[in-house]
Amino acid sequence: MKNIFILTGAGISAESGLKTFRDAGGLWEGHKVEDVATPGAFAVDPELVHHFYNMRREQLATVEPNAAHAALARLQEHFGEHLTLVTQNVDDLHERAGCRDVIHMHGELLKKRCASCEVVSPCTGSLTYDCVCANCGSEGRMRPHIVWFGEIPFFMDEIQEKLIEADVFIAIGTSGVVYPAAGFAEVAKHHGAKTIEVNLDGTEQSPLFDEHIIGKASETVPMLVERLR
Ligand code: APR
Ligand code: ZN
Repeated sequence: MKNIFILTGAGISAESGLKTFRDAGGLWEGHKVEDVATPGAFAVDPELVHHFYNMRREQLATVEPNAAHAALARLQEHFGEHLTLVTQNVDDLHERAGCRDVIHMHGELLKKRCASCEVVSPCTGSLTYDCVCANCGSEGRMRPHIVWFGEIPFFMDEIQEKLIEADVFIAIGTSGVVYPAAGFAEVAKHHGAKTIEVNLDGTEQSPLFDEHIIGKASETVPMLVERLR
């Protein structure tokens, strides 16, 4: 059986109603996303950063996975261990559609982490600065379990290993501007994978792909999944 590596980005969740980062100028209440999602921003104004993620957590509770998420769950059913699903998304829509072992390289909105003891725990409500860690008792140290700009994504060793083994590499709904994820297609291709890009448009990484499937993820991903099965 072939090894399939799938990388998803904000575009796969767009039709569920979650905004992508780089449309609408990438602005949130007048702030650039790059100015909110950083350790520096959190150090200077933790309440602003908590507010940003609290709003996103609230919004996540109001949306549902779409046909693209569901199709990837069917693909996983078919390929089992031979499918690696890495997402840059911090939402839980892959899981809610039935996917298992999703690799959240940029963290998860529904988890928090104590910056003192590093313990990760569930987070479904709002986070505030005065939140006390249930594990070590620290106050003011709880942060979203999110990889901010300037931080190193999670699971990079495992991802590198899977990229090398991949026979097919598929990028779905990602603009290909944020590294290291933006470099995955090149690594997989270099190690012999066929590369497929699924997006509404071309991206900066498009020249690296052998095949381009242009259109809405909710329509294109189910078709691609049928073909791969
Ligand atoms: N179907 C397919 N593709 C879509 C759809 C759709 N319905 N809607 C949007 N897209 C595409 C856009 O054309 C764009 O290329 O999805 C991509 C979304 O790009 P970004 O908003 O840049 O999101 P992403 O690539 O996931 O961002 C990477 O940057 O902000 C950080 O950490 C954050 O994980 C995020 C990372
Ligand atoms: Zn702690």
